[in-house]
Amino acid sequence: MLLHVVGARPNFPKLAPVHRAARAAGLDQLVVHTGQHYDDAMSGGFFRELGIPQPDVDLGVGSASHAVQTARIMERLEPVLARERPTWVVVYGDVNSTMAAAIVAVKLGLRVAHVEAGLRSRDWSMPEEINRIVTDRLASLLLTPSRDADATLRAEGEPEEEIVFVGNVMIDSLFHALPRARASGFRARLGADGDAVVVTLHRPSNVDDPARLAAIARALREIADERMVIFPAHPRTQERLRAASIDLGAVRVLDPVSYPEMLDLVQGARVVVTDSGGLQEETTALGIPCLTVRENTERPITITEGTNQLAPDPRALPALVRAVERRADVRRPEGWDGKAGERIVAALIARSAHTAGA
Ligand code: UD1
Repeated sequence: MLLHVVGARPNFPKLAPVHRAARAAGLDQLVVHTGQHYDDAMSGGFFRELGIPQPDVDLGVGSASHAVQTARIMERLEPVLARERPTWVVVYGDVNSTMAAAIVAVKLGLRVAHVEAGLRSRDWSMPEEINRIVTDRLASLLLTPSRDADATLRAEGEPEEEIVFVGNVMIDSLFHALPRARASGFRARLGADGDAVVVTLHRPSNVDDPARLAAIARALREIADERMVIFPAHPRTQERLRAASIDLGAVRVLDPVSYPEMLDLVQGARVVVTDSGGLQEETTALGIPCLTVRENTERPITITEGTNQLAPDPRALPALVRAVERRADVRRPEGWDGKAGERIVAALIARSAHTAGA
C-alpha cells in the first residue's frame, strides 16, 4: 500500500499524477493531509481541481512556528503510520510536512520515497533547503526531476540504487490542466493582454523584511506604470503588506487563485516575476520568461535549459521586464513530458518487489 503525505499548496499538483497512475495500476493508497495549509484557496480547491479524492486522514495541524508545526505533524502522524504500516510512505517536495513525515516513517522502520529529490539551493537560510537535505538523507527511494539532481545525490554519497530519474511530475499536472486553464477565461475577465506581468512572492527572504518588501513594491509600482501587473498574493504576503502599510499603486493584488486560473495567467503573460519553485518550472515548460527574485535557485535547469533568470536586486526588475523576449520555440528538459507519475509508480512497484524478494 502507498501512503502519501501532503500538506501545503505546492504538494498537491505533485500528488495528483502519482495518485492517478497508482490507481490505474490497481494499487491501494491512502492520502494523509497534515493540514499545514487549510484555506480552501490554498488546499481544498486544489484537491477538487486536480481530481484527487478528499484526504483519508486530515491531521489538522494548521499554522505555527516551524518547530511547533513540525512537531505537531510528527506527533499526529505517528499513530497513523504505525496503524497502516504501508509499503511506502511517499513524500513530496520540500515543505515542513515532507521532512516531518520522513522522520516519523523512518523511525518506524517504514520506507520513504521522495518525489522531487536532489534539488539544492545551497542556501541554508531557506527552511526548504533543510527539509530537502534531511528528507533525501532519510528516503530510500530518491525520485529525481532532472539529471543535475542525480549528480547532486551521488556527490552526497547516496547509493546508486536509491536514485531513480523520473522527470518532473509538476509538468504532468500542468499538461493535464492546460485545457481547463484555457477554458477558464480568467485572464480575459481581468482584462489582461499578452503584455501583462504576473507576480507571486511569499518567501520569508522577500516578504518578512519590511525594507526588502518595500523595495520590491517600489519596483512593481514602476512596472505597473507601463503595463498591467497581476499579483495573486499568498496569505502570508498579504499580511506582511498590511502590517508594513505598503502601497502597491496600480498593481492588481488578488487573493490566491485556483490552479487553472494561475496557469491561464502564466501562459498568457509577458513575463512572470516570482520566488516560487513551481513557477520557475511551469514557465520553462510553457516557454514564458521568468524573473526569479532570489539569490539562488534549487532548480538550475530552468536557467541552463529554460526561460528563467535570477533577479535578486528588485531595483533591476523594471528594466528586466522591459528587456525580456519570449523564445520562439519551447524546449523542455528531459523527462518534463507528462509521464513522470507513471514512471514514479513503476519505480515504486519495482522496488517493492525487489525488497520483498531480497
Ligand atoms: C509553505 C512552504 C513553502 C511553500 C509555500 C507555498 C514550508 C517551510 N514552507 O510556506 O516551501 O513554497 O508553503 O505556499 O513548509 N496561511 C494561511 N492559510 C493557509 C496557510 C497559511 O493564511 O491555508 C498563512 C498563515 O498566516 C501562516 C502563513 O500563511 O502563518 C505561512 O504558512 P506556512 O505553512 O507556515 O508557510 P508558507 O509561507 O505557506
